[in-house]
This record gives sequence, structure tokens and C-alpha cells, in this order.
Amino acid sequence: MALRNRMTVSFSWKSILKTLVIALLPYILYRTYEYIILRSRRRRCAASKGCQPPFHLPIRDPFFGLDFIWGIYRSLIKHTSLEDMRQHYIQHGVNTIMINQIGPSAVSTIEPENVKCVLSTNFHDWEIGPIRKKGLGWFLGDGIFTSDGAAWHRSRELLRPSFARAQISDPELFEGHARSLVEALPKDGTTMVDLQPLFFQASLDIATDFLFGRSTNTLSKQPEREAAPGLNGVEVKKFIEAWDGVQEAFQPKESTFGFLSLFFFDWFQGPKVRTINEFVDGIVEQANKDRPEAQQNSSDRSHKYVFLQELLERTQDRKQIRAELLSSLLAGRDTTASLLSNVWFELSRRPAIWSKLQDEVSIMSSGRPTFEEIKSMKYLQAILNESLRLYPVVPDNARIAARDTILPVGGGPLGTAPIFVKKGEIAHWSLWAMHRRKEIYGEDAEEFKPERWLDKADGKGLRVGWEYLPFNGGPRICIGQQFALMEVAWVTAWMAREFEGIESRDDEPWREKVALTCTGLGGCKVVLIPRGQ
Ligand code: HEM
Ligand SMILES: *[C@@H]1O[C@H](CO)[C@@H](O)[C@H](O)[C@H]1NC(C)=O
Ligand SMILES: *[C@@H]1O[C@H](CO)[C@@H](O)[C@H](O)[C@H]1NC(C)=O
Repeated sequence: MALRNRMTVSFSWKSILKTLVIALLPYILYRTYEYIILRSRRRRCAASKGCQPPFHLPIRDPFFGLDFIWGIYRSLIKHTSLEDMRQHYIQHGVNTIMINQIGPSAVSTIEPENVKCVLSTNFHDWEIGPIRKKGLGWFLGDGIFTSDGAAWHRSRELLRPSFARAQISDPELFEGHARSLVEALPKDGTTMVDLQPLFFQASLDIATDFLFGRSTNTLSKQPEREAAPGLNGVEVKKFIEAWDGVQEAFQPKESTFGFLSLFFFDWFQGPKVRTINEFVDGIVEQANKDRPEAQQNSSDRSHKYVFLQELLERTQDRKQIRAELLSSLLAGRDTTASLLSNVWFELSRRPAIWSKLQDEVSIMSSGRPTFEEIKSMKYLQAILNESLRLYPVVPDNARIAARDTILPVGGGPLGTAPIFVKKGEIAHWSLWAMHRRKEIYGEDAEEFKPERWLDKADGKGLRVGWEYLPFNGGPRICIGQQFALMEVAWVTAWMAREFEGIESRDDEPWREKVALTCTGLGGCKVVLIPRGQ
């Protein structure tokens, strides 16, 4: 009996091994074939363009790079992923690193020239690729944020005029929400408040007002305010729960399945996606009904309905409209809120900077600040620039090679030779690391110094191109950049005029909280002192 058992066991082991070899044979043959082809292509590239391989990150597991991926997971859990990646560059003294991980290899770079090549010069050789399409498309649909090629171009053309209109629209859009925000803040000069969640509420209220023409008004005490008719409170609550819920899936978590969640995520989100879709469809439906009236009104330049109404003028494809609205909401909400939170985090800890900002707002007129007035506040603009340099809210990014291509630098022992990149491989760049390079920003690169952006008596202030990319560059540059910068500057100026003092109530250093965007882990805990107290 025992013998028989052993035989069966050994027999089955053999058969498993045989099956495995047979199953893997085509794969091994394919990889060998690919390797030979690849080598000859690389040789040709080396011969004609001088390509050389970049520095390879030492990884223990040569097949899947599991130790590297485990390291990323640990870094995310410890909230040090951005700095840990930066340390790879510093430790090895290189600006471009090849990483052989599971799936396609990745070239990670902090060379402005390489990023420029991916985003602009060789734009057509690179794409967003299937990871983002699958990762976000299930709740966004096929919109500007998840598409490539001709589909992306159509989306971009569709949205462009609506964003262009935003620049001439009225700051009235911001005022109601800035007032509600200030109303929600304690004014006794002693009570601690965490500004971060309030900024997230304000940016949702503003983004929905701008995109949908009707606001979620989560901060407003009077949801039916005449100036900005809001949405139905109960539906808004359900929508926000669902919207925050689907994004929760992107928050790295420490749990048994935390590590695996880097590869898979929660697929049981159907009801949330339905809630989101129904909510947006309802708004689009209503906007469409209001269309004849809105067309008549469009001459009075009221911001209301502009964005969505303009989309409806140009297409009646409801699915596309929904996808574009959700893409813009995703791209525009957390980013702006994170920037506000990071800016106020620094303001609360730097009395000298706060005091210079106070000087600047003291010459503001007392009414509603105009866009021109806000743009002329150079110190405020420099504060935003500096925040986006040290704490870029989209701290890194990547593209996938759509065909064999090259990157101009990073190869060879000096990192000066071009690099051959195979179709399907990844180009990754870290803004966190690039924005802290001492060769670019000087020895004080790691310090928060808005002054570096201002013209100095002895010459020009910092001038940057592809070394500074908080909004990306090239044809896919953030389409909401002007709107976002205006929103953050406007709200910051408004608040700085209301409060003359600020104190931090938190001794922790800034730590990353990375999900789809990056913000401060500890929030922004402060005490605000109203003017004249
Ligand atoms: C501080 C605020 C913001 C930052 C730092 C920021 C940053 C970025 C970055 C880095 C990208 C490129 C993503 C990529 O191609 O991989 C992007 C794209 C985009 N952003 Fe922003 N963004 C901000 C605010 C906004 C706002 C307020 C809106 C809209 C209301 C918006 C709408 C978009 C859209 C639609 C895209 C996709 C553009 C395309 O692929 O053609 N963003 N943004
Ligand atoms: C159009 O203007 C009228 C009067 O100013 C106003 O009552 C109405 O709500 C506006 N309609 C839209 C869709 O903005
Ligand atoms: C902020 O940075 C941008 C470059 O992205 C630059 O054009 C602008 O002049 C800077 N603003 C200030 C006040 O330095």
C-alpha cells in the first residue's frame, strides 16, 4: 500500500515536471528568440546612434525582481517611497537606472532631457498604456485621462475650449466657496483645526461647480444658496461616498493582502460605479434640458453651466461626456486640495514667509480679488512654485514605449550615451527626485525658499524648463493648470486676508501620503488668528 503510494507520488511529480517543461518550453524559446533579436537591434542602435546600456539596479531576484517590489511595498507602507527611490539615484551616483522587475523592464530617470524626449520630442513613441486604462477606466470610462492616440486627441480637442473659457470666467466661482470655507474655520484664535479635510471639501465643491455647473456645496451651510444652486444633499452624500470609495482602492494598505493589492484590487465596486454614473448622468440630463435657456444666457459670461454646456454644444455622446467629466474631476480635485494643504503646511511653520505674504495681501483691494490682481502677487506665486517643486502632488509618472525607441541620455559609464528602449518597456521619472537635484537647484535644493523664484537685485531668479514639471509638459500637459493655480492662489489670498496669524500645531516633519496623488500624511493642523484680534 505504502509502496504504491510512493510510486503514485513519484509518478505524479515526474508528470508535473514534464508538463511544466512542455508548458514553459515555448516561453523559454520565445525569450531566447527575443533576446537574440533584441541584441541585434541594440547592436544596430549602438552602431548608428551610439546607444549604451544604462546602470542596472542590483536586484537579488533576477526573474521577477520580487525583492525590489517588496521594497516598494514596504516603502509605501512606511510613507517613504519617494525618498527611498531618490536614494537609489544618490547611492549609485546616477541619474538613470534600469530596473528589471516582473513584467516589462523600466528605465527610471531624473534627466530633464529624457523626460522631454518622452513627453514632447518623441511623443508619438510613447503611450499611457493598458495599466492606467484598466486601472482607472473601470470607473472613469474612456475619457481624456485613460486614452491614447486618436481617441485622446479627440478628447483633448473636445475639452480645450471649455478650459480656455475658464480663464476669462469670473472669480465669483471661487468667492462663494472661499466664504463657506472661512465660515467653517474656528475664529477664537485658540482652537486647533486640520485644514486638509476642509481643503478637500472646498476643492470638490469648486470642481463640481466648475465642471457640472452645480456644486456639491459640502461646506455651505445654505445648500440652496441662490448664487450657486447646489445639488440634492442626499444624492451628493451618496456620490461622495462612492467617489471616495473607488479611490480608496488606490491607497496602499498594510494587511495580509496588502502586498498582493499592488497587483490586484477590489473588483467588487459595481454598485459604487453605478452610483457615480447615475449621479453624473442626472446632472448631464438636467443641463441638457436647460440648454436653450443657457444658450441665451451665454452672452452674460456667467460661469454657470459653461463647462458642461459647452461640451453639450459639441457632442451628444453621453458616455463620452460622463467620462470627460469624471476624468477632469479625478485629475482636478485631489491635486488642488493637496497643493492647498502643502502650501498651508509650510505657511504655518514659517513666520518669515507668512509675514511676507501678509505684506502682499495688505495691498489687495477689499472686494473680490480679480484674476489680474492675483496674478500680480509674485510672492504668492513663488510660494506655489516652491511647494510644487518640493512636494509635487503628482510626484512621479511613467509612459510605455509604443515601439522600439531611444532615450537621449543615461547610457554608458558616464550616463551620456543614448539608451535603446524596447517596445513595451517603461520610462519612469521621479519629480520628487528631479526637483531636488543640487546640480539644478543649488546646494539649498532641499530647503523651502520661495525667494529662489523671484528676480534678485543682481540678476534673474530661477528659470526652469524641463527640470520642473509639476504639471507635466508637451501635448499632454495638464489642461487644468491655469485653473488650478488660480484656484489655489485665489483661495490662499482670500484666507490670508481673513487671518493675520497662523500657528502650527504639529511637530512632525512632512511625510508623504501617496495614492493617486500625493499629499501630507499628517494633514495641516493649525490655529488661525483672525484680523484685528
Ligand atoms: C495643483 C493642481 C494640479 C496638478 C499638479 C496637476 C497635474 C497634472 C499632471 C502631472 C498631469 C499629467 C498626467 C499624465 O499625463 O500622466 C495632468 C493632467 C491632467 N489634468 Fe491636471 N493637475 C492639477 C489640477 C488640475 C485641475 C484643477 C484640472 C481640471 C479641473 C485638471 C485636469 C487635468 C486633465 C483633464 C488632465 C489630462 C490631460 C491629458 O491627458 O491630455 N488638473 N495634471
Ligand atoms: C438664465 O438667466 C435667467 C435670468 O437671468 C435665470 O433666471 C436663469 O436661471 C438662467 N439660466 C441658466 C441656465 O443659467
Ligand atoms: C513659477 O514657475 C513657472 C514655471 O513653471 C514660471 O513660468 C513662473 O514665472 C514662476 N513664477 C514665479 C513667481 O517665479
